[in-house]
Amino acid sequence: MKFRPLVVANWKMNPTSLKEAALLGKSLSKLSLSFKKANLVIAPPTIYLSAVKPSKKVFLGAQNVFWDKSGAYTGEISPVQLSERGVSYVIVGHSERRALGEDDFLVNKKARAILAEGMTPIICIGELEHDSQGKYLAFLSNQIKSSLKGMSKSDITKIILAYEPIWAIGKDAKSAMEANDLHETVLYIQKVLSELYGRAVAHSIPILYGGSVKEENAESLMREGAIAGFLVGGASLSVKTFVPIVKAVDSFRS
Ligand code: PGA
Repeated sequence: MKFRPLVVANWKMNPTSLKEAALLGKSLSKLSLSFKKANLVIAPPTIYLSAVKPSKKVFLGAQNVFWDKSGAYTGEISPVQLSERGVSYVIVGHSERRALGEDDFLVNKKARAILAEGMTPIICIGELEHDSQGKYLAFLSNQIKSSLKGMSKSDITKIILAYEPIWAIGKDAKSAMEANDLHETVLYIQKVLSELYGRAVAHSIPILYGGSVKEENAESLMREGAIAGFLVGGASLSVKTFVPIVKAVDSFRS
């Protein structure tokens, strides 16, 4: 199955002014005009959603959402509100949110709420530790099954999985996952998905990699990893560090 390659910029809780967010959003939109294949999802902090103008190649993303449509939930943002603002992709279950108490049950509930509003959930999974006995594989299998619980085959064809090993997040390129290890893990994830939904459906689900993706490792991870693109944190905060990653994805020939 071939996918249009995708790069997701997860700005996390950055930058600290609307002015900087707008500048970065504008520069990335301008650069996207030269992309041949790659699509870009920019997920700024919700307060800066207006800093990113969606276009043919640039889509608006959110970093989190609540599971209900409206009501007495102080401080939360509903999927209806995101959709109404032009958001088409929502990251859910990022390890930094899981560390704040979000579990698979909640991730599943949120992912289904995102689908119900016609947006695409980018469901993050990933182990804390890559142990040599392979215990992390059972962990991943469990996380996938619980996060996707109750989803129909039709739902499942509308999701994106982001494999983000926690141990590889927020470091330098040398500390990221090796391309051949990534390939093995992606094959394992596809095996778990095949058991749940059959081979054809499993192979129609785009799998992104996230965790210290930089200019130095983007090309090899893309070439050997059997992935559809990247979820990028730190390197997505400047044009200088982000554009080479997008270019590596854009020029990748599968
Ligand atoms: P990183 O973050 O690229 O800074 O490692 C990735 C992520 O947390 O999504």
